[in-house]
Amino acid sequence: MPNESPSSARTSNPSLTKGKYSVAHLPDAWYVACRSDDLADGPITRTIFDLPIALFRDASGEAAAVLDRCAHRNAPLSGGRVDESGHLACPYHGWRFDRSGACREVPGLIEDEAGENDGTGRAVPSFATLEQDDFVWVWARPDAEPEGLPLRIPCIDDDYLVVVREYDVECTLHAALENALDVPHTAFVHRGDFRGKGSRDIEAVRRRIPGGIEVEYLGEPPLSGEAVDEAGDPVVSEHWDRFFLPSVAQVEYRTPPDKHLMSTLPHTPVSDFRTRFWLVSCWKVPADKRDEMRPVIEKQLDTILGQDVEILRDQTRRIREMGGESFRSTALDLMGPEILRMLRQSERGLPADDANIDRRVRLRVF
Ligand code: FES
Ligand SMILES: [Fe+2]
Repeated sequence: MPNESPSSARTSNPSLTKGKYSVAHLPDAWYVACRSDDLADGPITRTIFDLPIALFRDASGEAAAVLDRCAHRNAPLSGGRVDESGHLACPYHGWRFDRSGACREVPGLIEDEAGENDGTGRAVPSFATLEQDDFVWVWARPDAEPEGLPLRIPCIDDDYLVVVREYDVECTLHAALENALDVPHTAFVHRGDFRGKGSRDIEAVRRRIPGGIEVEYLGEPPLSGEAVDEAGDPVVSEHWDRFFLPSVAQVEYRTPPDKHLMSTLPHTPVSDFRTRFWLVSCWKVPADKRDEMRPVIEKQLDTILGQDVEILRDQTRRIREMGGESFRSTALDLMGPEILRMLRQSERGLPADDANIDRRVRLRVF
């Protein structure tokens, strides 16, 4: 192409996107490892940033987390059991580990040449844990002191019907977060499953909030129900999408007179291209309607989130086949680029909230 300048030739060559992935490693943070109920029947394994973690309850019933690799011969400790002392017993030769990861017993060992009865020389790394809002959160860097507390999940109280779902997606943390907070894809990926009552031109306002960013949508039609009231006036929903560093998405809708929906989605990076997330969806509905509504809502959420899981998987596969990402964003991409910028800043140990991100955008929703 004789008329093409070297720079445009460079940008149009897809192979030059090689190695560019929106992957961020932020181990100095709290991530959800599992739900509290998941520890009811003994130890389980979960992976965060490629590290297998054995989770169990100790003698006092507190959640504990250690590297899921025995110090002796590397068997997965999560395949073992918790003994009477609340120690995790390895399934292979029965070494016992306490919640700090120290080895407290080597079954059958009478004479200990190493003189290491305190077990520290045979320890496995451990992770700080914190149980809050029916989730077990883990500080992802092993043998480290955690800082601060995980985000609280709002509206999980008696005024709400609370539905919790869990999904495992083949995509980066960034792709999953962007998807959770992206409005334009809903008309395509979820066509017919919500909205779909004609188009309306609305406004979006982006601003900073403590620990993250928020986009507020002004003039939006309701997600469900009639788009006009009895007088023929448009029904308007208030809608906010929020991102909290490093990995929580939140979507809130208020529709007059009294509808309220608050969904909080803690995300956990399993590996560079695998993310687990939970959807805690809180619906303000009268107590006597909840039993009837729960299965309907669960089914609808699984349909919608199943569509997201599918498109995220396809997106990830194409990006990996091409050896990297090549993204072109417009003013409609209000969340994704800023989420990545914040993740990158944090990764470098820099403040993530210093840039001016205030923005007002007109858009059409369908
Ligand atoms: S591998 Fe765990 S006790 Fe031997
Ligand atoms: Fe979606």
